[in-house]
Amino acid sequence: MRIDNSVINDIRNHVDIVEIISGYLPLVAKGKNYFGVCPFHDDHTPSMSVSKEKQIYTCFSCGATGNVFKFLQDYENINFVEAVKKCADVAGIPLQVNNYTNTRYEKYKELYDVYEISQKFYQNNMNSAASKNAKEYLYSRELKDDIIKEFEIGLSLNDNNLLTKLLQSKKIDDKHLLQSGLVAESENRVDLYDIFRNRILFPIHDVSGKLIGYNGRSYNGDQTNKYVNTKETAIFKKRDILYNYHRAKESARIKKEIIIMEGPMDVIRASSVNIKNVVASMGTAISSNQAMLIRKLSTNVILCFDGDEAGLKVTNAAVDELVKLGISPKVARLEAGSDPDDYISKFGVDAFRKLLDNAMNLMEYKEFILKKNINLSNPEEAANYVNSMIKELNNINDEVLREITIKKLSEETNLTVDFIKSKLGEKVKKEEISIVKEKKRLTKWEKSERNLLYYMLLNQNVIKMYDKKITYMPTEKYRHLAFQVSAFYKQNGYINIADLLTELRDDEESVKTIGELESLSLKTEVEMDEIEDYLANIRAYNDDLQKKKYKEELSSSSDFNIKLDLAKKLVAYKMRSEDDDR
Ligand code: CTP
Ligand code: MN
Repeated sequence: MRIDNSVINDIRNHVDIVEIISGYLPLVAKGKNYFGVCPFHDDHTPSMSVSKEKQIYTCFSCGATGNVFKFLQDYENINFVEAVKKCADVAGIPLQVNNYTNTRYEKYKELYDVYEISQKFYQNNMNSAASKNAKEYLYSRELKDDIIKEFEIGLSLNDNNLLTKLLQSKKIDDKHLLQSGLVAESENRVDLYDIFRNRILFPIHDVSGKLIGYNGRSYNGDQTNKYVNTKETAIFKKRDILYNYHRAKESARIKKEIIIMEGPMDVIRASSVNIKNVVASMGTAISSNQAMLIRKLSTNVILCFDGDEAGLKVTNAAVDELVKLGISPKVARLEAGSDPDDYISKFGVDAFRKLLDNAMNLMEYKEFILKKNINLSNPEEAANYVNSMIKELNNINDEVLREITIKKLSEETNLTVDFIKSKLGEKVKKEEISIVKEKKRLTKWEKSERNLLYYMLLNQNVIKMYDKKITYMPTEKYRHLAFQVSAFYKQNGYINIADLLTELRDDEESVKTIGELESLSLKTEVEMDEIEDYLANIRAYNDDLQKKKYKEELSSSSDFNIKLDLAKKLVAYKMRSEDDDR
């Protein structure tokens, strides 16, 4: 289904990008623009500028650029039509979007199809008589039928190739079966068999809720591996997802808090006692992509990993990854040998809630870690401790937390607050806006092209002048964008960057160029004599180039008529540039 361009532009006109982005991250007004921490790279200072006037955003650091649709697409991991629909809802404009195809999923359609079939099959098993033992196991872990249904928990039976045969009967070729990670081939490469056999299956979804893998847990004690998981596939990339993200999203945003645990079992158990703002990392250290996903949900992050040494390790790594993004997570530590699931079973949900409420703040956690093996009455160890705490204080963004910690540190060590403060490194004043520096010095005509294009994006008169006088930019990427701008104007009779960005949404190069131009922060008022200068500079450059070409041809040619023709052309050029000078 295609939505008419005029409808799309109308919807865009009825929402305000500043309001929409403010719903996701804090924006601070500064001059004409608004600034916020860019959610699309590991930003820790506000590098993203949002223009109310132009209705676009640009990150001066990573270059992310777009209109309100692009922001929603990338932030919410939704496609273009879904983003338009969201805005239509905000604007109160009725919009039917039924049968559109989601291009994002088309590339690996076969793999998604395989997963959909497998899901039905495994869930069916869970609803059949064959699930007696598995169900008993789940009940014994206090997971009831409603939770089994909510989390779509499936079951693979104790058989070699039931799923493989089912998939083959649906004419899915072996290549895709193997690529899905659900089927493997025997050593002789003849027989295919199911990866998941006799296991309880926890479906894993990508951030937008598409099924992409399973965590498979043994349940009758006769298997060596507690867990068998989907391997990395074209659609299952562990570092890009968090277990339960698509379900936890809503409640995390409402509660302004997200809790991170180690495994699906923990998440499902927490959910069963109505703690829904929970995701799991699935046993590994948090990747920077996962940290960015977490930042998108909430600034209040509570880490609640297992109480063992491994859990402490992943906690430390997660803390580092989150601090890099300017987040100060809290840490709820469990006693050794316990995980959230055990804790809830042993002490109940109220105790668990209390544990979360009493989570250590980031500096308390650092203190807890540093104090583990030291004796504060030993002056040398005490000095080490203070120095380490000072180092940690230098790393955090949270001013209030820093003050509180300094005071506490002063009380426990008898060092004065002033002394501790004097030891804090000059908190490196990070530039609030790190404007992308120009890598090379541009020549006069390159600058002219660039600036001219910037004003073409703002003012239709500049486009008209360009069309009349130039129509050719020497630099390829500028030429390409200028062509698009000019075409947009011809088609629509106006110019507007935000609508142009809708049109160019699949033209990455042009969008990137627009981002570069916006990062220049040139003034938005158009000065016509400046425009004339730019035009003249570009024309002079093009003319010089052409003259040089004619001269070369002139000297290499021996044909009199050709020579005469070239000489005439050269004179014409000369006269034209004298005309310009007058
Ligand atoms: N994990 C894994 N392979 C293992 C052990 C763990 O892939 N051999 C991953 C799984 O995603 C698991 C998570 O790490 O969910 C946490 O592991 P663990 O704490 O051992 O499992 P629990 O979630 O506690 O599961 P259970 O309570 O059923 O033992
Ligand atoms: Mn457990």
